[in-house]
Amino acid sequence: MESLGRHEDYGQEALTETHLVADPIEQFKLWLAEAEAADIYEPNAFVLSTVSLEGQPRSRTVLLKGVDQNGFFFATNYLSRKGQALSKNPKVSAVFGWYSIYHQVIIEGVARAVPSEDSDEYHNSRPHDSQVAAWSSHQSQFIENRDALDKQFEEALSKFENSDVPRPDYWGGYRIVPTRIEFWKGRSNRMHDRIEYFRTQQADGSFTPWEIQRLQP
Ligand SMILES: Cc1cc2nc3c(=O)[nH]c(=O)nc-3n(C[C@H](O)[C@H](O)[C@H](O)COP(=O)(O)O)c2cc1C
Repeated sequence: MESLGRHEDYGQEALTETHLVADPIEQFKLWLAEAEAADIYEPNAFVLSTVSLEGQPRSRTVLLKGVDQNGFFFATNYLSRKGQALSKNPKVSAVFGWYSIYHQVIIEGVARAVPSEDSDEYHNSRPHDSQVAAWSSHQSQFIENRDALDKQFEEALSKFENSDVPRPDYWGGYRIVPTRIEFWKGRSNRMHDRIEYFRTQQADGSFTPWEIQRLQP
């Protein structure tokens, strides 16, 4: 088999337990800021994996639009494939691959639709044409050709030409509430650093404190 890619040595800079802050959300923010500073294209893009009713994992890229102690916020069409999968099974995995700085973050948890006020707030912050696009695309559904898609968009543009665009009720945000966050840092000789934070949701809905452990690469 032909070998793909360059065989790079990922360097010496270490990720040790003492480098990390105790709260993985805060640690994530530090790494996101590093990715932004490194001028990575779309540093807030991540691969979101859901599991369909039939048990089929499906992955796609979405954009992180907010992160705080409540979780990781992204927006999409609730009737899309991912939306339908999430309505039956909220478990997700999310991967941020910041390869040029040898960083990867993997998040596991559940994604739940946010309250409608939060979706409204985000929708209202978007440019007019993006708001219109949310109306004009029935995300993940079949369409016969590009012209038909362009026509749908033109129709929606003219419908909202001189007016505010309300948020479609089938479009809005999700928040991923994490139970596992792994920070991976590339190191020499494939002896990479992997530090995992994990916690458990208890019967009353509260979480155990975050624990940290190192994993073999
Ligand atoms: C860089 C990038 C960013 C994207 N951001 C989003 C996003 O924030 N929300 C979204 O619904 N789709 C986004 N997409 C499109 C999705 O990858 C996907 O095609 C779409 O959501 C339909 O997925 P589904 O059929 O699995 O539901 C993005 C794609 C790329 C390449």
